[in-house]
Amino acid sequence: MPAAAHFYPQGAELQRKNYIGRKVNKTELHIEPKAFDLEKIRRDFPILGLQVHGKPLCYLDNAATTQKPQAVIDSLVQYYSSMNANIHRGVHHLSEVSTKAFEDARIKVKSFINASSEKEIIFTRGTTESINLVANSFLRGRFEDGDEVIITGMEHHSNIVPWQLFDSIKKIKLRIVPVDDNGELILDDFEKMINEKTKLVSVVYVSNSLGTINPVEKIISAAHKHNVPVLLDAAQAIQHIPVDVRKLDCDFLAFSGHKIYGPTGIGILYGKEKLLDELPPFLGGGDMISKVTFNGTTFNQLPYKFEAGTSNIADAIALGTAIDYVAGIGIDAISSHETEILEYASAKVAEVPGLKIIGTAKNKSSVLSFIFDNIHPHDVGTFLDFEGIAVRTGHHCTQPIMDRFCIPATTRASFAMYNTKEEVDILVRGLKKITEVFN
Ligand code: ALA
Repeated sequence: MPAAAHFYPQGAELQRKNYIGRKVNKTELHIEPKAFDLEKIRRDFPILGLQVHGKPLCYLDNAATTQKPQAVIDSLVQYYSSMNANIHRGVHHLSEVSTKAFEDARIKVKSFINASSEKEIIFTRGTTESINLVANSFLRGRFEDGDEVIITGMEHHSNIVPWQLFDSIKKIKLRIVPVDDNGELILDDFEKMINEKTKLVSVVYVSNSLGTINPVEKIISAAHKHNVPVLLDAAQAIQHIPVDVRKLDCDFLAFSGHKIYGPTGIGILYGKEKLLDELPPFLGGGDMISKVTFNGTTFNQLPYKFEAGTSNIADAIALGTAIDYVAGIGIDAISSHETEILEYASAKVAEVPGLKIIGTAKNKSSVLSFIFDNIHPHDVGTFLDFEGIAVRTGHHCTQPIMDRFCIPATTRASFAMYNTKEEVDILVRGLKKITEVFN
Protein backbone atom coordinates (compact mmCIF):
# COMPACT_ATOMS: atom_id res chain seq x y z
CA MET A 1 0.00 0.00 0.00
CA PRO A 2 1.42 3.46 -0.84
CA ALA A 3 2.77 5.38 2.14
CA ALA A 4 0.31 8.24 1.58
CA ALA A 5 -2.61 5.91 2.25
CA HIS A 6 -1.17 5.20 5.71
CA PHE A 7 -0.42 8.84 6.31
CA TYR A 8 -4.00 10.01 5.66
CA PRO A 9 -5.70 8.55 8.75
CA GLN A 10 -2.70 9.33 10.91
CA GLY A 11 -2.89 12.98 9.91
CA ALA A 12 -6.56 13.05 10.74
CA GLU A 13 -5.89 11.28 14.05
CA LEU A 14 -3.27 13.85 14.99
CA GLN A 15 -5.67 16.69 14.26
CA ARG A 16 -8.36 15.14 16.43
CA LYS A 17 -5.99 14.55 19.33
CA ASN A 18 -5.23 18.24 19.31
CA TYR A 19 -8.83 19.14 20.02
CA ILE A 20 -10.76 16.49 21.86
CA GLY A 21 -10.08 16.48 25.55
CA ARG A 22 -7.52 19.27 25.39
CA LYS A 23 -7.41 21.92 28.09
CA VAL A 24 -8.83 25.13 26.69
CA ASN A 25 -8.22 28.65 27.77
CA LYS A 26 -11.64 29.36 29.26
CA THR A 27 -11.31 33.13 29.05
CA GLU A 28 -11.04 32.71 25.28
CA LEU A 29 -14.48 31.11 25.20
CA HIS A 30 -16.40 32.60 28.10
CA ILE A 31 -17.57 36.09 27.42
CA GLU A 32 -18.66 38.54 30.10
CA PRO A 33 -22.08 39.91 29.14
CA LYS A 34 -22.30 43.64 28.52
CA ALA A 35 -25.23 45.86 29.54
CA PHE A 36 -28.42 45.12 27.54
CA ASP A 37 -28.53 47.88 24.91
CA LEU A 38 -31.57 47.34 22.69
CA GLU A 39 -30.69 50.03 20.14
CA LYS A 40 -27.20 48.68 19.72
CA ILE A 41 -28.54 45.13 19.40
CA ARG A 42 -30.95 46.25 16.65
CA ARG A 43 -28.09 47.92 14.78
CA ASP A 44 -26.19 44.60 14.88
CA PHE A 45 -28.91 42.98 12.72
CA PRO A 46 -28.76 44.56 9.25
CA ILE A 47 -32.06 43.03 8.07
CA LEU A 48 -34.00 44.93 10.75
CA GLY A 49 -33.42 48.13 8.74
CA LEU A 50 -35.44 46.78 5.76
CA GLN A 51 -38.68 48.24 4.46
CA VAL A 52 -41.39 45.75 3.48
CA HIS A 53 -44.29 46.98 1.32
CA GLY A 54 -43.05 50.49 2.05
CA LYS A 55 -43.22 50.00 5.84
CA PRO A 56 -40.38 49.35 8.29
CA LEU A 57 -39.98 45.60 8.81
CA CYS A 58 -41.57 44.44 12.04
CA TYR A 59 -40.18 40.92 12.35
CA LEU A 60 -42.26 38.80 14.73
CA ASP A 61 -41.62 35.34 13.29
CA ASN A 62 -38.66 34.42 15.46
CA ALA A 63 -39.92 30.99 16.44
CA ALA A 64 -39.69 30.05 12.75
CA THR A 65 -36.19 31.46 12.47
CA THR A 66 -34.22 34.30 14.04
CA GLN A 67 -32.40 37.00 12.11
CA LYS A 68 -28.59 37.02 12.04
CA PRO A 69 -26.24 39.60 13.51
CA GLN A 70 -23.52 41.05 11.28
CA ALA A 71 -20.91 39.03 13.23
CA VAL A 72 -22.53 35.75 12.09
CA ILE A 73 -22.78 36.95 8.48
CA ASP A 74 -19.13 38.06 8.61
CA SER A 75 -18.10 34.73 10.06
CA LEU A 76 -19.51 32.90 7.02
CA VAL A 77 -17.79 35.28 4.61
CA GLN A 78 -14.53 35.03 6.54
CA TYR A 79 -14.63 31.25 6.54
CA TYR A 80 -15.12 30.96 2.80
CA SER A 81 -12.68 33.76 1.97
CA SER A 82 -9.82 32.76 4.24
CA MET A 83 -10.19 29.28 5.76
CA ASN A 84 -12.14 26.96 3.48
CA ALA A 85 -10.77 23.41 3.54
CA ASN A 86 -12.04 20.05 4.65
CA ILE A 87 -11.55 19.22 8.32
CA HIS A 88 -9.92 16.24 10.09
CA ARG A 89 -8.50 15.16 6.75
CA GLY A 90 -5.51 17.20 5.82
CA VAL A 91 -2.12 18.21 7.09
CA HIS A 92 -2.01 21.44 5.14
CA HIS A 93 -2.41 24.88 6.67
CA LEU A 94 -6.01 25.55 5.62
CA SER A 95 -7.21 22.20 6.88
CA GLU A 96 -5.53 22.86 10.24
CA VAL A 97 -7.10 26.33 10.51
CA SER A 98 -10.50 25.06 9.46
CA THR A 99 -10.36 22.10 11.86
CA LYS A 100 -9.39 24.37 14.74
CA ALA A 101 -12.25 26.80 14.05
CA PHE A 102 -14.73 23.91 13.76
CA GLU A 103 -13.58 22.26 16.99
CA ASP A 104 -13.53 25.62 18.79
CA ALA A 105 -17.19 26.02 17.82
CA ARG A 106 -17.89 22.67 19.44
CA ILE A 107 -16.20 23.87 22.63
CA LYS A 108 -18.30 27.05 22.59
CA VAL A 109 -21.47 24.96 22.40
CA LYS A 110 -20.18 22.72 25.18
CA SER A 111 -19.52 25.72 27.43
CA PHE A 112 -22.84 27.38 26.55
CA ILE A 113 -24.92 24.38 27.63
CA ASN A 114 -22.44 23.30 30.32
CA ALA A 115 -21.83 19.81 28.95
CA SER A 116 -19.11 17.74 30.63
CA SER A 117 -17.09 17.11 27.52
CA GLU A 118 -16.96 18.12 23.87
CA LYS A 119 -17.41 14.40 23.09
CA GLU A 120 -21.05 14.97 24.07
CA ILE A 121 -21.61 17.61 21.37
CA ILE A 122 -22.63 16.21 17.98
CA PHE A 123 -23.07 18.55 15.01
CA THR A 124 -26.22 17.73 13.03
CA ARG A 125 -28.33 19.61 10.50
CA GLY A 126 -30.78 20.75 13.17
CA THR A 127 -33.21 19.65 15.86
CA THR A 128 -35.07 17.38 13.44
CA GLU A 129 -31.94 15.48 12.46
CA SER A 130 -30.84 15.29 16.11
CA ILE A 131 -34.10 13.59 17.13
CA ASN A 132 -33.99 11.33 14.08
CA LEU A 133 -30.45 10.35 15.08
CA VAL A 134 -31.62 9.23 18.52
CA ALA A 135 -34.67 7.46 17.05
CA ASN A 136 -32.55 5.57 14.50
CA SER A 137 -29.86 4.63 16.98
CA PHE A 138 -32.45 3.47 19.52
CA LEU A 139 -34.15 1.43 16.80
CA ARG A 140 -30.98 -0.52 16.15
CA GLY A 141 -29.51 -0.42 19.64
CA ARG A 142 -32.33 -0.43 22.17
CA PHE A 143 -35.90 -0.81 20.91
CA GLU A 144 -37.82 -4.08 20.83
CA ASP A 145 -41.27 -4.53 19.27
CA GLY A 146 -43.89 -3.00 21.56
CA ASP A 147 -41.51 -0.66 23.38
CA GLU A 148 -42.88 2.71 24.38
CA VAL A 149 -41.77 6.31 24.07
CA ILE A 150 -43.53 8.98 26.12
CA ILE A 151 -44.04 12.31 24.41
CA THR A 152 -46.51 15.14 25.09
CA GLY A 153 -49.59 16.49 23.37
CA MET A 154 -47.75 19.65 22.34
CA GLU A 155 -44.83 18.15 20.40
CA HIS A 156 -43.58 19.48 17.11
CA HIS A 157 -43.96 16.95 14.29
CA SER A 158 -40.21 16.40 14.51
CA ASN A 159 -40.73 14.71 17.88
CA ILE A 160 -43.67 12.60 16.69
CA VAL A 161 -42.89 11.39 13.19
CA PRO A 162 -39.37 9.97 13.84
CA TRP A 163 -40.90 7.50 16.33
CA GLN A 164 -43.51 6.40 13.78
CA LEU A 165 -41.18 6.02 10.81
CA PHE A 166 -40.04 2.47 11.57
CA ASP A 167 -43.48 0.93 11.88
CA SER A 168 -42.65 -1.72 9.31
CA ILE A 169 -39.47 -2.70 11.21
CA LYS A 170 -40.41 -2.31 14.87
CA LYS A 171 -43.67 -1.16 16.39
CA ILE A 172 -43.04 1.60 18.89
CA LYS A 173 -45.99 2.74 20.94
CA LEU A 174 -46.29 6.46 21.66
CA ARG A 175 -47.81 7.43 24.99
CA ILE A 176 -48.98 11.02 25.17
CA VAL A 177 -48.92 13.32 28.21
CA PRO A 178 -52.19 15.31 27.95
CA VAL A 179 -52.45 19.09 27.84
CA ASP A 180 -55.01 21.25 29.70
CA ASP A 181 -57.00 24.23 28.40
CA ASN A 182 -54.21 26.67 29.31
CA GLY A 183 -51.66 24.71 27.35
CA GLU A 184 -49.96 23.19 30.40
CA LEU A 185 -49.01 19.54 30.72
CA ILE A 186 -51.19 17.39 32.98
CA LEU A 187 -48.51 15.46 34.80
CA ASP A 188 -50.65 13.87 37.56
CA ASP A 189 -50.41 10.41 35.99
CA PHE A 190 -47.01 10.83 34.38
CA GLU A 191 -45.24 8.26 36.54
CA LYS A 192 -48.04 5.76 36.01
CA MET A 193 -47.38 6.00 32.26
CA ILE A 194 -43.87 4.62 32.79
CA ASN A 195 -43.54 0.84 32.73
CA GLU A 196 -40.93 -1.78 31.84
CA LYS A 197 -41.55 -1.12 28.12
CA THR A 198 -40.77 2.60 28.41
CA LYS A 199 -37.43 3.18 26.67
CA LEU A 200 -37.39 6.96 26.42
CA VAL A 201 -39.22 10.12 27.42
CA SER A 202 -38.91 12.74 24.68
CA VAL A 203 -40.45 16.12 25.42
CA VAL A 204 -40.46 19.64 24.14
CA TYR A 205 -38.89 22.14 26.55
CA VAL A 206 -40.73 25.22 25.20
CA SER A 207 -43.75 24.77 22.93
CA ASN A 208 -43.33 26.50 19.55
CA SER A 209 -47.07 27.02 19.11
CA LEU A 210 -48.17 27.85 22.69
CA GLY A 211 -45.02 29.20 24.30
CA THR A 212 -45.43 26.98 27.38
CA ILE A 213 -42.20 26.35 29.28
CA ASN A 214 -42.64 22.78 30.45
CA PRO A 215 -41.50 21.66 33.92
CA VAL A 216 -38.80 19.47 32.46
CA GLU A 217 -36.85 19.14 35.73
CA LYS A 218 -39.86 17.39 37.26
CA ILE A 219 -40.26 15.13 34.20
CA ILE A 220 -36.57 14.22 34.18
CA SER A 221 -36.42 13.36 37.86
CA ALA A 222 -39.61 11.23 37.62
CA ALA A 223 -38.28 9.38 34.54
CA HIS A 224 -34.89 8.81 36.14
CA LYS A 225 -36.52 7.20 39.19
CA HIS A 226 -37.46 4.45 36.72
CA ASN A 227 -34.10 4.55 34.90
CA VAL A 228 -35.69 5.94 31.74
CA PRO A 229 -33.58 8.47 29.80
CA VAL A 230 -35.02 11.81 28.72
CA LEU A 231 -34.53 13.73 25.49
CA LEU A 232 -35.36 17.45 25.47
CA ASP A 233 -36.34 19.24 22.29
CA ALA A 234 -34.80 22.62 23.13
CA ALA A 235 -35.40 24.23 19.71
CA GLN A 236 -37.49 27.00 21.29
CA ALA A 237 -35.65 27.11 24.62
CA ILE A 238 -31.97 27.55 23.81
CA GLN A 239 -32.32 31.15 22.57
CA HIS A 240 -34.68 32.29 25.33
CA ILE A 241 -33.77 30.74 28.69
CA PRO A 242 -30.58 29.47 30.33
CA VAL A 243 -30.03 25.81 29.44
CA ASP A 244 -27.62 23.85 31.62
CA VAL A 245 -27.61 20.18 30.68
CA ARG A 246 -25.79 19.12 33.85
CA LYS A 247 -28.21 20.96 36.10
CA LEU A 248 -31.19 19.62 34.15
CA ASP A 249 -29.60 16.16 34.10
CA CYS A 250 -31.25 15.47 30.71
CA ASP A 251 -29.78 12.57 28.74
CA PHE A 252 -30.14 14.13 25.31
CA LEU A 253 -30.89 17.66 24.18
CA ALA A 254 -31.49 18.89 20.63
CA PHE A 255 -31.48 22.36 19.14
CA SER A 256 -31.04 24.20 15.84
CA GLY A 257 -28.50 26.90 15.04
CA HIS A 258 -30.90 29.08 13.09
CA LYS A 259 -33.19 29.63 16.09
CA ILE A 260 -30.30 31.04 18.10
CA TYR A 261 -29.18 33.68 15.58
CA GLY A 262 -26.91 31.23 13.71
CA PRO A 263 -27.21 29.79 10.21
CA THR A 264 -29.70 27.22 8.94
CA GLY A 265 -28.52 23.67 8.28
CA ILE A 266 -26.60 23.28 11.51
CA GLY A 267 -27.78 21.96 14.84
CA ILE A 268 -26.70 20.11 17.94
CA LEU A 269 -27.39 16.85 19.61
CA TYR A 270 -26.08 16.78 23.15
CA GLY A 271 -25.95 13.31 24.71
CA LYS A 272 -24.43 11.95 27.88
CA GLU A 273 -21.15 10.34 26.92
CA LYS A 274 -22.03 6.92 28.32
CA LEU A 275 -25.28 6.76 26.35
CA LEU A 276 -23.74 8.00 23.12
CA ASP A 277 -20.96 5.47 23.52
CA GLU A 278 -23.44 2.64 23.83
CA LEU A 279 -25.58 3.65 20.85
CA PRO A 280 -24.79 2.50 17.31
CA PRO A 281 -24.00 5.20 14.72
CA PHE A 282 -26.75 6.86 12.69
CA LEU A 283 -25.23 7.48 9.24
CA GLY A 284 -22.29 5.59 7.74
CA GLY A 285 -19.47 7.08 5.70
CA GLY A 286 -16.24 9.01 6.00
CA ASP A 287 -14.88 10.35 9.31
CA MET A 288 -17.15 8.18 11.48
CA ILE A 289 -14.96 5.10 11.06
CA SER A 290 -11.86 3.78 12.69
CA LYS A 291 -11.13 0.88 10.33
CA VAL A 292 -13.05 -0.31 7.27
CA THR A 293 -12.66 -3.65 5.52
CA PHE A 294 -15.07 -5.49 3.22
CA ASN A 295 -15.85 -7.73 6.17
CA GLY A 296 -16.82 -5.00 8.56
CA THR A 297 -16.13 -1.63 10.11
CA THR A 298 -15.08 -0.35 13.49
CA PHE A 299 -16.23 3.10 14.47
CA ASN A 300 -14.50 6.29 15.45
CA GLN A 301 -14.54 7.75 18.96
CA LEU A 302 -17.13 10.31 20.07
CA PRO A 303 -18.25 12.70 18.77
CA TYR A 304 -17.07 11.68 15.28
CA LYS A 305 -18.92 8.35 15.40
CA PHE A 306 -22.09 10.36 14.74
CA GLU A 307 -20.67 12.81 12.19
CA ALA A 308 -20.47 10.91 8.91
CA GLY A 309 -19.27 12.72 5.81
CA THR A 310 -18.05 16.27 5.47
CA SER A 311 -19.71 18.32 8.17
CA ASN A 312 -21.42 21.63 7.63
CA ILE A 313 -18.15 23.33 8.59
CA ALA A 314 -18.88 26.99 7.84
CA ASP A 315 -22.26 26.92 9.55
CA ALA A 316 -20.86 25.16 12.62
CA ILE A 317 -18.23 27.89 12.94
CA ALA A 318 -20.86 30.58 12.46
CA LEU A 319 -23.02 28.90 15.11
CA GLY A 320 -20.04 29.34 17.42
CA THR A 321 -20.04 33.03 16.52
CA ALA A 322 -23.77 33.25 17.24
CA ILE A 323 -23.19 31.68 20.64
CA ASP A 324 -20.42 34.20 21.35
CA TYR A 325 -22.88 36.93 20.40
CA VAL A 326 -25.66 35.61 22.67
CA ALA A 327 -23.18 35.07 25.52
CA GLY A 328 -21.96 38.63 24.99
CA ILE A 329 -25.48 39.95 25.56
CA GLY A 330 -26.20 37.39 28.30
CA ILE A 331 -29.02 34.85 28.20
CA ASP A 332 -30.45 36.14 31.51
CA ALA A 333 -30.71 39.68 30.12
CA ILE A 334 -32.25 38.34 26.90
CA SER A 335 -34.73 36.29 28.88
CA SER A 336 -35.85 39.18 31.05
CA HIS A 337 -36.23 41.54 28.06
CA GLU A 338 -38.30 38.95 26.18
CA THR A 339 -40.49 38.29 29.23
CA GLU A 340 -41.21 42.02 29.42
CA ILE A 341 -42.13 42.11 25.72
CA LEU A 342 -44.33 39.01 26.01
CA GLU A 343 -46.19 40.38 29.04
CA TYR A 344 -46.69 43.74 27.32
CA ALA A 345 -47.88 42.05 24.12
CA SER A 346 -50.24 39.65 25.95
CA ALA A 347 -51.93 42.57 27.72
CA LYS A 348 -52.11 44.70 24.57
CA VAL A 349 -53.54 42.07 22.21
CA ALA A 350 -56.20 41.23 24.80
CA GLU A 351 -57.66 44.68 23.98
CA VAL A 352 -58.29 43.66 20.35
CA PRO A 353 -62.00 42.84 19.90
CA GLY A 354 -62.75 39.17 19.17
CA LEU A 355 -59.15 37.99 19.70
CA LYS A 356 -58.53 34.87 21.79
CA ILE A 357 -55.06 33.83 22.97
CA ILE A 358 -54.27 30.14 22.57
CA GLY A 359 -51.74 29.12 25.22
CA THR A 360 -52.14 30.86 28.54
CA ALA A 361 -49.74 28.85 30.67
CA LYS A 362 -48.30 30.56 33.75
CA ASN A 363 -44.77 29.93 32.60
CA LYS A 364 -44.34 31.07 29.01
CA SER A 365 -41.62 32.23 26.67
CA SER A 366 -41.74 34.55 23.68
CA VAL A 367 -44.72 33.06 21.79
CA LEU A 368 -48.13 34.66 21.41
CA SER A 369 -50.61 32.52 19.45
CA PHE A 370 -54.13 33.74 18.86
CA ILE A 371 -57.28 33.29 16.80
CA PHE A 372 -60.33 35.32 15.79
CA ASP A 373 -63.77 33.69 15.65
CA ASN A 374 -64.53 34.95 12.18
CA ILE A 375 -61.19 35.73 10.50
CA HIS A 376 -58.92 33.00 9.18
CA PRO A 377 -55.29 33.17 10.38
CA HIS A 378 -54.04 33.23 6.78
CA ASP A 379 -56.08 36.39 6.14
CA VAL A 380 -54.64 37.89 9.33
CA GLY A 381 -51.09 37.04 8.24
CA THR A 382 -51.56 38.41 4.73
CA PHE A 383 -53.10 41.63 6.03
CA LEU A 384 -50.29 42.11 8.56
CA ASP A 385 -47.69 41.50 5.86
CA PHE A 386 -48.95 44.59 4.00
CA GLU A 387 -48.22 46.53 7.18
CA GLY A 388 -44.63 45.23 7.13
CA ILE A 389 -45.35 42.79 9.97
CA ALA A 390 -44.04 39.22 9.69
CA VAL A 391 -45.92 36.60 11.73
CA ARG A 392 -46.49 32.90 11.13
CA THR A 393 -49.93 31.48 10.48
CA GLY A 394 -50.88 27.82 10.29
CA HIS A 395 -50.54 24.75 12.48
CA HIS A 396 -46.86 25.46 13.20
CA CYS A 397 -45.95 21.80 12.53
CA THR A 398 -47.96 20.85 15.63
CA GLN A 399 -51.21 19.48 14.23
CA PRO A 400 -52.07 17.36 17.31
CA ILE A 401 -52.11 20.39 19.62
CA MET A 402 -54.29 22.27 17.11
CA ASP A 403 -56.68 19.27 17.24
CA ARG A 404 -56.59 19.43 21.05
CA PHE A 405 -57.84 23.03 20.89
CA CYS A 406 -60.27 22.14 18.05
CA ILE A 407 -58.74 24.73 15.73
CA PRO A 408 -57.02 24.33 12.36
CA ALA A 409 -54.45 27.07 12.85
CA THR A 410 -53.40 30.15 14.79
CA THR A 411 -51.66 33.41 14.05
CA ARG A 412 -48.39 33.45 15.96
CA ALA A 413 -46.25 36.41 16.91
CA SER A 414 -42.94 35.27 18.36
CA PHE A 415 -40.33 37.52 19.90
CA ALA A 416 -36.57 37.72 20.05
CA MET A 417 -34.01 39.85 21.89
CA TYR A 418 -34.28 42.67 19.31
CA ASN A 419 -38.04 43.19 19.48
CA THR A 420 -39.45 46.36 21.03
CA LYS A 421 -42.67 47.52 22.66
CA GLU A 422 -43.12 49.87 19.67
CA GLU A 423 -43.24 46.80 17.43
CA VAL A 424 -45.91 45.28 19.67
CA ASP A 425 -47.89 48.53 19.27
CA ILE A 426 -47.54 48.25 15.48
CA LEU A 427 -48.86 44.66 15.67
CA VAL A 428 -51.81 45.68 17.82
CA ARG A 429 -52.66 48.59 15.49
CA GLY A 430 -52.56 46.15 12.54
CA LEU A 431 -54.84 43.70 14.35
CA LYS A 432 -57.35 46.42 15.24
CA LYS A 433 -57.40 47.53 11.60
CA ILE A 434 -58.12 43.94 10.52
CA THR A 435 -61.11 43.68 12.82
CA GLU A 436 -62.46 46.98 11.45
CA VAL A 437 -62.07 45.77 7.84
CA PHE A 438 -63.53 42.30 8.43
CA ASN A 439 -66.36 43.37 10.67
N1 ALA B 1 -40.64 24.92 13.92
C1 ALA B 1 -40.59 26.22 13.37
C2 ALA B 1 -41.75 27.06 13.82
O1 ALA B 1 -42.27 26.87 14.88
C3 ALA B 1 -40.38 26.25 11.91
O2 ALA B 1 -42.17 27.95 13.10
